[in-house]
Amino acid sequence: MNAKDLLNLTEEFGSALYVYDAEKIQSQYNRLTSSFSKVNRLRINYAVKALSNISILKLFHSMGSGLDTVSYQEVQLGLAAGFEPSRIIFTPNGVSLEEIEMVAELGVQINIDNLSILEQFGTKHPHIPVCIRINPHVMAGGNTNISVGHIDSKFGISIHQLPHLLRIVENTNMHINGIHMHTGSDILDIEVFLYAAEILFETAKHFKTLDFIDFGSGFKVPYKKDDIETNVEELGKKLSKRFNKFEEEYGRPLTLAFEPGKFLVSEAGYFLAKVNVVKQTTSTVFAGIDSGFNHLIRPMLYGSYHQIENISNLKGKERFYSVVGYICETDTFANNRRINEITEGDILCFRNAGAYCFSMASNYNSRFKPAEVLWFEGKGHLIRERETMEDILRGQVVFEFEKSLVL
Ligand SMILES: Cc1ncc(COP(=O)(O)O)c(C=O)c1O
Repeated sequence: MNAKDLLNLTEEFGSALYVYDAEKIQSQYNRLTSSFSKVNRLRINYAVKALSNISILKLFHSMGSGLDTVSYQEVQLGLAAGFEPSRIIFTPNGVSLEEIEMVAELGVQINIDNLSILEQFGTKHPHIPVCIRINPHVMAGGNTNISVGHIDSKFGISIHQLPHLLRIVENTNMHINGIHMHTGSDILDIEVFLYAAEILFETAKHFKTLDFIDFGSGFKVPYKKDDIETNVEELGKKLSKRFNKFEEEYGRPLTLAFEPGKFLVSEAGYFLAKVNVVKQTTSTVFAGIDSGFNHLIRPMLYGSYHQIENISNLKGKERFYSVVGYICETDTFANNRRINEITEGDILCFRNAGAYCFSMASNYNSRFKPAEVLWFEGKGHLIRERETMEDILRGQVVFEFEKSLVL
């Protein structure tokens, strides 16, 4: 899809707008599966949290993907999209035993990441197969908020607690069918990933009934021209070889699993917003758009970078702008960015807007969430309506002061 298509979509569906290119999602999925084609059993579980629109989930279903979920609600979305429970893994953090039991009852694969819940679950349901999330204590990932495998992280069961973990498994006689790690997003160096994988292989030897080893995710995608990205082809070559060797030693068929979010959907997403105002100050020129961190919070939350283009004036002279939102506190998308000259009414296009963008949107400042469009076979299809005032008021209960004051 090109700038003209994106401009037409904003004409048709209004602004601000999310657009997802189905073909890009499919090509990323195929890129990953072909990188691991040497493995006998491969399972890609798309991480729903990245972008959870039901039409996107259906697209993954059509490609043969499974799902990685973190809440009962995500599991329900997956089921509504047509996934078999056995094709869904539930990898929550800090949720109640009750929620885990509710999900297990649906026949979904459970992944437990702490000893307390493991012991309680194993004691009550020794026959339900459980995967264990290991924290290998490998520092990988970008921003500290998305690095989750290090020593201070709340995620996973510490590799140093392996004796305790094995005691629980033995005492409860529970069935462990998988082990898992996820060290964080934006892994730059595949050697670090391979090092963490070795820890997982070592751990796997302690369990005799594994069906799968889940290596989580964390693939880095490029955010700008010439940016580093995880070389999945090289990782595929190296890890497949090592995995196949391990499987042989293990003596039981094993599935290699991944659960990527960003890798599959980040680059497929475009966020489009209209420039409400161009404001020259003594220090900079602001381009204020009809959006804010209520629609796209990643720059404010993680300091993440989104390439921004003025698709209304692609040939215009470049100038420096700070692109800001309309929220009544600091709400900056980009500082002093070189962008083709902006005029009020122009449409700015944010790249890498597929992952953790709409799914983190809120109604802050009582603003509506934007519409979402799927670009499929050369045409835009509305997959979520723009919210209206009814959505803002839904669920609110009006307290009638007048009546309560009547004596
Ligand atoms: C357990 C787990 N798996 C998978 C993912 C997806 O990561 P990414 O979007 O970097 O692929 C996350 C992201 O937070 C996660 O916490």
